[in-house]
Amino acid sequence: MTIRFPRGFLWGASTASYQIEGAWREDGKGESIWDRFSHMPGKIDKGDRGDVAADHYHRWRADIDLMSELGLKAYRFSVAWPRILPQGYGKVETRGLDFYKRLVDGLLAAGIEPWMTLYHWDLPQALQDRGGWPARDTAKAFADYAEVVARGLGDRVKHWMTLNEPWVSSILGYYHGIHAPGHTDREESTRAAHHLLLGHGLAVPLIRRDSPGSQVGIVLNYSPSHPASDREEDVVAAQLSDGSVVRMFLDPLSGRSYPADVVEAQGLVLDMIEPGDADIIATPIDFLGLNNYTRQVVKHRGAFELGVPKRDGVDRTEMGWEVYPAGIYEMLMRVTREYPFKALYLTENGAAFADRVGSTGEVDDPRRVAFLRAYLAQVARAIDEGAPLKGYFVWSLMDNFEWSLGFGKRFGIVYVDYETQARIPKTSARWYSKVIAANAIED
Ligand code: FCB
Repeated sequence: MTIRFPRGFLWGASTASYQIEGAWREDGKGESIWDRFSHMPGKIDKGDRGDVAADHYHRWRADIDLMSELGLKAYRFSVAWPRILPQGYGKVETRGLDFYKRLVDGLLAAGIEPWMTLYHWDLPQALQDRGGWPARDTAKAFADYAEVVARGLGDRVKHWMTLNEPWVSSILGYYHGIHAPGHTDREESTRAAHHLLLGHGLAVPLIRRDSPGSQVGIVLNYSPSHPASDREEDVVAAQLSDGSVVRMFLDPLSGRSYPADVVEAQGLVLDMIEPGDADIIATPIDFLGLNNYTRQVVKHRGAFELGVPKRDGVDRTEMGWEVYPAGIYEMLMRVTREYPFKALYLTENGAAFADRVGSTGEVDDPRRVAFLRAYLAQVARAIDEGAPLKGYFVWSLMDNFEWSLGFGKRFGIVYVDYETQARIPKTSARWYSKVIAANAIED
């Protein structure tokens, strides 16, 4: 059965600076919190680090050629803040800006729309040394950085995303400690979340001013939270999980207050909120970006503790994440119903599998093809039912540094041989290319 997508639907692929660029101290780049974190013993699987990664900083031209071959209409990537402002603020490193200018010009010449994320987690270490996201000054520094980039690239980049997944930066970075900077402090993480949102809100009008006619949005992670049973306590646990991952960000961005149930259950201290912050955070945006991979099945474990129980017989990716295509539909319909955004984009969706190069040099990944097909079928269903979804970006264009899990988890539709830096399009890349060309799934 053929599944068609609306005319003009935007097909793309996503990456992020630290995960692919390498060149960690070239051309005047400052240290980022991920440089620091990945160099600490024991933080990343197998001691992997992003110093070289997929060497995209040197191979960007060939990578654009690859995107052209696949027929991508758009490419979502992020700017490494410490390449532009090595100390996080103040002196601008023009060689850093020039790298992104070359990349963007190359994309435009190839007819590929650049979609630029300003912050995909690589905070300048110098700013972390001054308090990082828990410090209010970092929100201001982010807005200043956004202004520098918008002045430099605003004539050619017309699609901007301020932050990628502020839940991850704040909770995994400052509370669970598994992401940079590796802190485990609840209050710090709550302050970080607020200042990330504040930085976003301060940046939006500056980007609009310096990049006339552009579209500006933010990207959130969203996994539906379902209760492990219909017992009241599991139902409440699932609501709280939804509250802390989804409503904690979507509500303030939509002009509502932080969700009262989460604030109460988790005893969140919100004394960093200043008058006027709520309005800044709720500055209207042009689109909302959503990243979806899986769902959470949640069980109540004890006072305020949520658990994700082990369940048998579930199809899982290499990340251990459940393959749950209906979740992407549920997410799109819920956001459409309950929130005011005029346009939605799927800014990430994809899966890690244990891909191997075959005897003839090919990388066959039928499970990824099946995954993408199943999720896209649900995406098409949501569009049919009224979700204002305008485009889809697969995560990821190429295999890359999967944060604390290092290079072991391969999410690319293009395989990267990290020894030689050879790129090998997987079966899924060929399949995706056909979907783009047909604007439909035909097999
Ligand atoms: C998302 C991140 C992205 C990548 C995928 C697998 O949370 O935004 O960088 O790591 O997960």
